[in-house]
Amino acid sequence: MTSRIDGPLKVTGQAKYGADHVFPGTLHGFVVLSTTANGEITAMDVTAAKSAPGVVAVYTPFDSLKLDKAISQTFGETWVPLQSREVAYYGQPVGVVVAETYEQARDAAMTVEVTYDKRPPATSFTDGMATAETPPSMRGNLPSELTVLADGVESIEDALAASPVVVDHTYATAVQNHVAMEPHSAVARWDAGEVTVYSGNQAAFLQAQELSSALGVEISKVRCINPFVGGAFGGKGRTSVAAFLAAAASRALDRPVKIVLSREQVFTATASRPATVQRVALGASQDGNLIAVRHDSFSSTDMARSFVEPTSHGTSREWYATENLAISQKMVPLNIPPGTFMRAPGEAPGSFALESAMDELAIELGMDPIELRLRNNSTAPPGKDLLWSSKHLDECYRTGAARFGWANRAPNGREDGDWLVGMGMATAMFPALRFPASVRVTFKDDETAEVATGGADPGTGLLTVLALVGAESLDIKPEDVTPLLGDSALPPGGLSGGSTATASAGSAVMVAAVQAIDELVKLASSAGAPFEGLDVTYEGGRVLAGGRSMSFGELLRATGRTELTAVGSSAPGEELSKHSFSSFGAQFVEVRVHKWTREARVSRMLGVFDAGRIINETTARSQMVGGMIWGVSAALHEGIEIEPNGRFANADLASYLVPVNADIPDVGVHFVQYPDTLHNDVGAKGIGEIGMVGMAAAVANAIHNATGIRVRHLPIRIEDLL
Ligand code: MOS
Repeated sequence: MTSRIDGPLKVTGQAKYGADHVFPGTLHGFVVLSTTANGEITAMDVTAAKSAPGVVAVYTPFDSLKLDKAISQTFGETWVPLQSREVAYYGQPVGVVVAETYEQARDAAMTVEVTYDKRPPATSFTDGMATAETPPSMRGNLPSELTVLADGVESIEDALAASPVVVDHTYATAVQNHVAMEPHSAVARWDAGEVTVYSGNQAAFLQAQELSSALGVEISKVRCINPFVGGAFGGKGRTSVAAFLAAAASRALDRPVKIVLSREQVFTATASRPATVQRVALGASQDGNLIAVRHDSFSSTDMARSFVEPTSHGTSREWYATENLAISQKMVPLNIPPGTFMRAPGEAPGSFALESAMDELAIELGMDPIELRLRNNSTAPPGKDLLWSSKHLDECYRTGAARFGWANRAPNGREDGDWLVGMGMATAMFPALRFPASVRVTFKDDETAEVATGGADPGTGLLTVLALVGAESLDIKPEDVTPLLGDSALPPGGLSGGSTATASAGSAVMVAAVQAIDELVKLASSAGAPFEGLDVTYEGGRVLAGGRSMSFGELLRATGRTELTAVGSSAPGEELSKHSFSSFGAQFVEVRVHKWTREARVSRMLGVFDAGRIINETTARSQMVGGMIWGVSAALHEGIEIEPNGRFANADLASYLVPVNADIPDVGVHFVQYPDTLHNDVGAKGIGEIGMVGMAAAVANAIHNATGIRVRHLPIRIEDLL
């Protein structure tokens, strides 16, 4: 177990985040946001702003910084600001004021007068459901509808009608924002036609692609640097408005420009997790075998229809064995800020619906919720029929039940003084994915090795994992490995998103290390080298032949070199046609609901996970702890309140509730470790998202156990439990 390598830098304030980069002559930009949710800007009066102290420039759609389409290979197009006078949501960036100081820019921005030709905004999810649309495609090009039926079954309705026991309910989840601790920000600086942008992001090389196309500049002239990222969670997968505007303004003004969104601006000038409404119908035999699963989902989306929360696909498509499955996914376009990936996109809200429904079915059947899940354990996703590469979910249930004391759970909870105490559980799954990645491995003459790649560590522990996998692959000590991340000048290393980073970058490290060792061995036996003509082998950082050995540093020095470098790449391939891949988990929650005030508190929680090989238990555990706390937050705290005019009513950390330390008890995390080398050579599956999946349902199920009240929406508040 290795402590986070960058931990000391972070806790002593030495880590430089994007906005910490200071250059002489830097200008500061402050973004102006719309105050209507639907309309066209007919005029913007910037007279006062332009003459305010320190102001250097004001950009609006009438007098804009030119930006073209921003496109990345992985995600396609993303929105760029100030290129149109159309306003599609309240809080949309419509201008930027640039001044000598931050305060001057902010004060001048307050004087900008915007006139709109307003239209009534669509802000009601419920109203919009009547005219919901079918999305063209979603995460991973999932189909928007899928039906699998057993032979002789005509429709999912027939399969449900023929089921002896049916539960059929509708669940809802709120819009959520990532609220990463580091607000979206950027510092941009041009030099001789080349731009360097310092901005927290989930992959420096993807940010470089988007900036290159938006700025109309060759990719070789765009460098993105983000060795430290203060949280991302999907909300920094795309390039931020701050980065687009800082880069374009810096070019126009020929000075470095820094833009930092305020906390309140982050809520609307970035993107959020959509709200969902999900109807789940489960049909089962009396002994608890699922006969039919139906999951119809609605996701809010913005008017550009940029993102859909794939709840039906994320959960019901793969979770349980059933002969009859029908899932559908619709979107409800509203005048609200764009949606995007947020930790466990699809699975987090999707599992709230499915896993609440499974709990309701267990109660209907008079069966233990774990027994019901064990009975319907899938050996392959229904309709896909490729066996799971490795699945130890049954062990997660059993180990979790034993560790949590599940056997003590009473069907109707128990009382402890003024508290009603209940236990709940839920399944967690998240697909194991990976992306193409390249990594550079360098042997250096000072006896250290460098492992470098253009991905990012947004607090996940990837930097530490790189050092560990690098050390293992090179057969040297981790402290002799220098990991490097967060620079688009490095080989493209996958992104920190989709729980893919370790599998993607780790696999590439292994390839690169083998190549570097090959090169080293060749060098050792080459003409004029210390082992000329001998059959050289490599072990423990040393080359060996003829009963002699040398460290790689000695060899490099003896051959007059300072370093030896190899770049290795790895990408998903054949395995995708052979197996299905997923991480699995079982999550357990104990809640205490106060008998008189109805306050609900989580008093114990445990997650047991099958996520393949765990490279570093310290940082992996932190990932799970963070995800589980967020699951509690989704269950009991978080949710954007949208006013009828489209304004986010609680866009700040005083009213957008997140748990504090006092809300969170000790978090139990346990890994059952089965390296999955069918998925990738490292054997690691994903750990970024799965900690959150299942938690909201486990909390809701525990609340039902404690109180007998079934709440089918998130967040669950005191008023729901009266
Ligand atoms: Mo993510 S939601 O792991 O970018």
